Amino acid sequence: MMNEGLTRYVWWQEGIIYQIYPRSFQDSNGDGIGDLQGVLQRLNYLSALGITAVWLSPIYPSPMADFGYDIADYQGVHPLFGSLNDFDALIEAIHQRGMKLILDLVPNHTSDQHPWFLESRSSRDNPKRDWYIWQDKLPDGSPPNNWLSVFGGNAWEWDETTGQFYYHAFLKEQPDLNWRNPEVQEAMLNVMRFWLDKGVDGFRVDVMWHLIKDKNLRDNPVNPDYQPHMATYDQLLPVYSTDQPEVHDLVRQMRHVLDGYTDRLLIGEIYLPIHQLVTYYGIDGKGAHLPFNFQLLTLPWEARQLATAIDQYEGLLPANGWPNWVLGNHDQPRITSRIGREQARVAALMLLTLRGTPTIYYGEEIGMQDVPIPFDEVQDPQGLNMPDKNLSRDPVRTPMQWDDSPNAGFTEGKPWLRLARNFSRENVERQQQDPYSMLSFYKRLIKLRQQEPSLMVGDYVPVYASEQVLGYMRQFDGQPRFLVLLNLSHRPCYLTLNDSSINGVVVLATAPEWEGNRVTNSISLGGDDGLLIRLD
Ligand code: GLC
Repeated sequence: MMNEGLTRYVWWQEGIIYQIYPRSFQDSNGDGIGDLQGVLQRLNYLSALGITAVWLSPIYPSPMADFGYDIADYQGVHPLFGSLNDFDALIEAIHQRGMKLILDLVPNHTSDQHPWFLESRSSRDNPKRDWYIWQDKLPDGSPPNNWLSVFGGNAWEWDETTGQFYYHAFLKEQPDLNWRNPEVQEAMLNVMRFWLDKGVDGFRVDVMWHLIKDKNLRDNPVNPDYQPHMATYDQLLPVYSTDQPEVHDLVRQMRHVLDGYTDRLLIGEIYLPIHQLVTYYGIDGKGAHLPFNFQLLTLPWEARQLATAIDQYEGLLPANGWPNWVLGNHDQPRITSRIGREQARVAALMLLTLRGTPTIYYGEEIGMQDVPIPFDEVQDPQGLNMPDKNLSRDPVRTPMQWDDSPNAGFTEGKPWLRLARNFSRENVERQQQDPYSMLSFYKRLIKLRQQEPSLMVGDYVPVYASEQVLGYMRQFDGQPRFLVLLNLSHRPCYLTLNDSSINGVVVLATAPEWEGNRVTNSISLGGDDGLLIRLD
């Protein structure tokens, strides 16, 4: 048990992260695309919500082939989003409010328009040739190996001018950097220093597990579990193209740069099974502070499975490894669309009461849903490249719904992506006036979490798992303990907890009628009920 007074928690352990997709949060100049000034205008909203840190998806100059994840200049701001001056103003305003700013860092690949790549592809003996992954064709003219692109098709692009292939894990407009080259390493670490010197509080590192590839570029094995509805990328197991042992040394270097500053945060975007994920905490905890834990996005919404996954995660965390939980991001279906409106409240209660740093994706707090985008309006390359697989990420990236004015208060112009049909009913302004809305629920939940040491940093104790219900306790030395009971189904159920001394008051619930009621170890829950109980 942790001892109060002895352990110091840093902001990112106590705090809550909020992801903003800048294109879609708030437009300030009527071009239909969100920008930094827009974010600035909405800071009061964010501080009233109670979040600690804002993570901005990429804001750098980019041809936008992958909406900013194809970077042409790591040390600037795309004019669509504003200027470096706007950035400085934003970070200052965020810090003034006691909040933090996390930037997206995309070190695995650049844009094909980045000066580094333009040089690299200009000739075989250009000094930057080796900054990317260039290979000869095989004798029969085919690419050097069988690797596939995440966004569909082959991962090798033929370059006519210099007569070699280059590797791109994503679009051909996103060539992968060669992280075996020390010059590449140093260049990217310098990018980090540039932003850290500006006061940035941390980075979310894009596709961290992709950074370095097998030295011999061996063929990936066939995935025996592939099914036709899956992305074509899943036909192979990325055994040699991702999660290589050498990646940990690169992460350690990044961490070392951060450690030269006070209290900065390193997050890794990593989609791997838990036993592999936890290795990204690094030897002696000198890797990523938070390898993103995506289990709530990827596992079936089933109480026993989730209970097992939580236990496994808690058990596999290295000493001093801090947990974290994510409910949504700009690449995955929104939670409301995956499990439904009622269960989304239960999910919020889970996200904000599990042990570890929660990440909220913009709009989750008002229950935004995936918005159907007509075929001829699809913009996401993942959707366009595999049109028959329903993989477009546009539906989860639609403009934030602020109010019931013509474009939901998002823009005075034409929004870059269409709004949800129901925005005049489902928006921030309306939900602010309704004490039972999703937004009010999130606000109260966040407030309580941040007030109660047990909920913020306390231990996690598994208590109950059945087909329908997940139950756990949170406790911290000498502080009130909390019991969380979540009915992950729509059907009522009755349960008896082993500990007959359990007695407490419901302080917050998905259905407000519960609040103030006393409960014991024998409880009957309604469908979609989630209870937060302060124990005596
Ligand atoms: C990450 C990003 C995703 C992007 C991809 C390529 O997975 O989250 O949006 O398309 O990397 O950079």
